[in-house]
Amino acid sequence: MNDPNGVIQWNGRYHLFYQYNPFGAFHDYMHWGHAVSDDLIHWEELPIAIAPDPGTVDEGGIFSGCIVDHDGTPTAFYTGVNVGATEQRQCMATGDDELITWQKYAANPLIAAPPPHTDQMPDFRDPFVWRDDHTWYMVVGSRIAGVGGAALLYRSQDLQNWTYLHPLMVGDMPRHGAMWECPNFFPLGDKWVLVISLHTGSGTGNVIYFVGDFRDERFYPEYEGMLDSSVYYAPLTFLDEQNRRIMWGWLRESRSGDDQLAAGWSGVQAIPRVLTLDANNRLLMEPVPELEQIRAAKQHENIVLSDTPLDLPGLALDLSFAFRVESDVPCGFDLTWDDTAERIAVLYDPVLQTINVRHTHADNTLSPHGQLHRLVPEEHLELRILIDNSVLELIANRRTSITHRMYPKQVKNPRIQIHNTDAVVDFAIWEMRSIW
Ligand code: FRU
Repeated sequence: MNDPNGVIQWNGRYHLFYQYNPFGAFHDYMHWGHAVSDDLIHWEELPIAIAPDPGTVDEGGIFSGCIVDHDGTPTAFYTGVNVGATEQRQCMATGDDELITWQKYAANPLIAAPPPHTDQMPDFRDPFVWRDDHTWYMVVGSRIAGVGGAALLYRSQDLQNWTYLHPLMVGDMPRHGAMWECPNFFPLGDKWVLVISLHTGSGTGNVIYFVGDFRDERFYPEYEGMLDSSVYYAPLTFLDEQNRRIMWGWLRESRSGDDQLAAGWSGVQAIPRVLTLDANNRLLMEPVPELEQIRAAKQHENIVLSDTPLDLPGLALDLSFAFRVESDVPCGFDLTWDDTAERIAVLYDPVLQTINVRHTHADNTLSPHGQLHRLVPEEHLELRILIDNSVLELIANRRTSITHRMYPKQVKNPRIQIHNTDAVVDFAIWEMRSIW
């Protein structure tokens, strides 16, 4: 799997669709896979929802998109591509009330080509649709020749006929990548947020966001932030029945294509995150609280922390730490295993104000991820870390995200060694139960 698609809560149940190749653990001939859940944590796999149809506009694949509620009819928007994906067109399909079977719109495509001022390149994909009163809007990811990535804005009254308005936003090259994938545009608090996945030419890149105002069909960004610069990509958000803005995101593999084929699977979804804004217009992200229901035994409660490594009950963990950062001494921890030099260090450097996840492999090679993370005086360093075998998700102070994939050669006796224990003001380690 890769991108989350068409995420929605329908009649109380959460639906996840996703980019899926039923023929193997490699990216080709995309379909929309489908899973359903009552609580965002326990999932049931359902049959493939939308598949390419030979001889039609989507014969090469059903690329990413979204689902909206059109007066009671689940309505999906996706990019239909030809074989080779050199032609990318926006398409529509409607679902039954269980979202199981989908009927493609007879007059697909809805939008056959990008506006002429965009690049000659085929990139024109990932429709994101929302309703503002009686008007529907769509943003589509694309690029403008010689300028950079773009989110193109369309308007419709009936979801069938779409009028191109203008770019909602255009990025600067090389800072904002050459092409914008998977745009999301939504209100949050008093503001509007545009989330963009940057395609760099050589592949997937950073996920960034802009926060600002939306007036008269124009976006006025005021703040730019980094959502994740590691392996989190192509996020897709939706509003649930509790009015929470929830974000899904794909965690890419870090292992080779051959290793993915041998494993028989590729790609995983991150734990969904609830989004809010802070007073500085920064995006705050918290794993959905539903995750807490699979917490099992709490580990090492009421102990006095020391330099001695603590045993961990496996690699399905929910950890949180709060450090009082008063000196120049780095705070964080190492994850280690018996009989191997392999280790993962999670460390905050108060001098450089960076948070780092550094994975030293058994052969001494290093996979580093780093992110600027400024704390204001008196602000504690708050780390929330979710570990699920090959996945590590770290969120610092709810606003800085680092994600990592790990495939330790040796998983015997995982341990955690905490650094600068004097600065720890709070910590919790939970063993997590299986969701299956
Ligand atoms: C992002 C992306 C999308 C596209 C899909 C194809 O990862 O490249 O732009 O719709 O994946 O699988």
